[in-house]
Amino acid sequence: MAMPSGTISIAPGVFWVGIKHHNRRLFDGLIPLPHGTSYNAYLVVGKEKTALIDTVNPGFEQELLDKISAHADPAKIDYIIMNHAEPDHANATKLMLTVAKNAKLVAGAKGKEAAMMYFDIDPERILVVDETTRIDLGGKTLRFVDAPWLHWPETIFTYLEEDKILFPCDFFGSHVAAGAFYAEEYGNELAVDMAKLYFAEIMMPFRKPGQNALEKVKKLGPKIIAPSHGVIWGTRRSYLMPTPTGPRRRWRGRSWWRM
Ligand SMILES: [Fe+2]
Ligand SMILES: [Fe+2]
Repeated sequence: MAMPSGTISIAPGVFWVGIKHHNRRLFDGLIPLPHGTSYNAYLVVGKEKTALIDTVNPGFEQELLDKISAHADPAKIDYIIMNHAEPDHANATKLMLTVAKNAKLVAGAKGKEAAMMYFDIDPERILVVDETTRIDLGGKTLRFVDAPWLHWPETIFTYLEEDKILFPCDFFGSHVAAGAFYAEEYGNELAVDMAKLYFAEIMMPFRKPGQNALEKVKKLGPKIIAPSHGVIWGTRRSYLMPTPTGPRRRWRGRSWWRM
């Protein structure tokens, strides 16, 4: 199965529909980005419903819509999950709610306040979730982890139970654009160095909330960790598609994932 240009599948029905911003050189006005960064949004297509997890930085809205369209009709998205309200992930939330007229914005209680305050979202369209909530998309079940201060107070993580994929937004992130999607393809050692740098620059003041979140993540036992910046942690095997020439051949060919 050929992948549409610019997106990859990280599990059956789960697609990276993000943006690689290779030439961005500064983050938050002071953090150098020698390797650019990425805004990783993910689309989860269940048998009955579809969810978008996070959006992208301002300026890339059309690319996001195009990438979603490769897999599903953006107008028919049912849930737009806002793990974190910072504009690099949430600024396109309002646009997505306009495009997907019946969609609900999914957020934690503090996320709801942030969505109303920063993006003027109608509270009637916000579904507040907590750690007891399950959203069934049809063979794909989403649950949520309260993860405050990673790195704003409203942060939640989303977990896809069947595929054991954690979507922790900024946490576990790294500022890397690269052609690679997976840490092991980028080079595990270098990927860890970049993640350490990211942690030092963004998460260091939130070490304690980070430890608390790690304990929760350990209990979930994710197979793949798919943050909203940089490389995905896990094995590339999990997203390789069977092809006539075999998955490894397709991997080496790289033709369908190169930006
Ligand atoms: Fe953030
Ligand atoms: Fe971010």
